[in-house]
Amino acid sequence: MPVDIDPTAFIASLGGRAAVGCMSHEARADALEDHAIRKLDEAVAQTQAGLNNGSATPGRLPTAAEIEAHIDGSPNRRGVGNLFMPSATRPIGRLEAMPKRPTLADFFRLRFEPANHVLQSAARAMKTGMTEEVILACLLHDVVQALIKVDHGWWGAQLFEPYLPERSTFAIRYHQALRFYPDEANGYAYPDLYHRMFGVGYPPEPYIDETYKMVRKHKWYIEPRLVTVNDLYAFDPTATVSLDPFTDIIGRHFKQPKEGLGFDGSPVAHMWRSIAFPDHPL
Ligand SMILES: [Fe+2]
Ligand SMILES: [Fe+2]
Repeated sequence: MPVDIDPTAFIASLGGRAAVGCMSHEARADALEDHAIRKLDEAVAQTQAGLNNGSATPGRLPTAAEIEAHIDGSPNRRGVGNLFMPSATRPIGRLEAMPKRPTLADFFRLRFEPANHVLQSAARAMKTGMTEEVILACLLHDVVQALIKVDHGWWGAQLFEPYLPERSTFAIRYHQALRFYPDEANGYAYPDLYHRMFGVGYPPEPYIDETYKMVRKHKWYIEPRLVTVNDLYAFDPTATVSLDPFTDIIGRHFKQPKEGLGFDGSPVAHMWRSIAFPDHPL
């Protein structure tokens, strides 16, 4: 990794030109080495922060091999759910208890928050006149990442399958695979974020490639594709979002079980309970 040394900043850090002039050659060389190491440490910390969270840190893009090498010694697996890991905005601490019969809105408020990305994505879908099924899919497409990140398209579709229109579930399941494949005609380019998360030159797993080819030919291809299009533009740190604009769409399409999510005896109830009670040791 190249480290740039700014001579003005370096001289200033030693007390200015006069102070440097009084230093022996060896002392100047030592000081320069110290300065370079500090700069390198900063650059490494910045790169590692980017590798950990996939955020858009400035600087050189990592290669896929560098991302893979970063697994060694990592404090956690990258596919672990957000609820199970501390973050800068959400350190591990006691969670507010869920109501007895929790609704989707309760999960948004108490377990998925701040949910900025999905709310922004759904707001964009609404603004651009997408169908209610697509708006709903955008709203829910990544929330399962509270539980698990790896293969979140499939996990997310499974979590919602008993309660959602089939097209919305289809869109959630397959948006994950479609994210790797540009579709200029529909306004979707390969995301820069993926260069940072997966590394430059990353080849999607063969099962992702096969899934993409199947979905590309499917009559509902556009449903998950529109989720990816709205996905791209939903990382604005300054946007203010809320679940309120989607209350009616949720009411029309989401089959809220009267016993509450997690307690309706459905095949996915345990997934909702795992999100409700992430501190249970077993
Ligand atoms: Fe996603
Ligand atoms: Fe997303």
